[in-house]
Amino acid sequence: MELRQAPGLYITFEGGEASGKTTQIELTSKWLVERGYTPVITREPGGTELGKKLRELILHGPKDMDPRCELSLYLADRAYHVARKVRPALEAGKVVVQDRYFDSSIAYQGAARKLGTAEVRELNLWATQGLIPEITFLLDIEPKLSMRRRQGASDRIEEEPNDFHLKVREQYLQLAAAEPNRFHIIDAGQSIAQVQTEIQRVISTALGKKEAYLSPEKL
Ligand code: TMP
Repeated sequence: MELRQAPGLYITFEGGEASGKTTQIELTSKWLVERGYTPVITREPGGTELGKKLRELILHGPKDMDPRCELSLYLADRAYHVARKVRPALEAGKVVVQDRYFDSSIAYQGAARKLGTAEVRELNLWATQGLIPEITFLLDIEPKLSMRRRQGASDRIEEEPNDFHLKVREQYLQLAAAEPNRFHIIDAGQSIAQVQTEIQRVISTALGKKEAYLSPEKL
């Protein structure tokens, strides 16, 4: 399959439940705005109006939902989100900062739900026409710690036993090991400030390279 990349900078955040993604994305967004960027902040599932309806179905739908049905709903959300929001933003040269992408499907549906990681990856490349992020932060957290951090009522996925979440974590670490250029593993047990410092360092380097590439003397 042809992998179609785009200008702009595509950054995704991955990690288990309560790994601090939301807080870090907010801080990253603020920092980018201070540096003069107008980042597009988005999420899966639920980054579009259609996606919000799909998110509700996925997270609070019937308890007996089949894993293939669950994956299909994530794929529907993702296909629409990429086609209508993410790819256009990247083509316009924007920095896109996204909470979860297809690595979540590989870890949760491919590994933990046992649908097969290679198959889930292929289906995702089809759904997104091969759009792969340039930077993926893995906020690595032990499921036991994430259980302690979690607040409020659980959704269908959060309700899964510890073993499920251990499989998710293990798969994420395997994905990161297989693509060390794209993935940056960050220990989510550190302080919020320490995590954010690492994130900013990685993004600064990527933006520096882009600026060099796009600098007027090279055009
Ligand atoms: P969130 O609470 O981080 O927004 O994510 C919603 C839940 O959906 C979370 O438990 C992870 C799960 N999920 C998958 O199982 N597969 C996916 O492809 C995505 C994007 C999320």
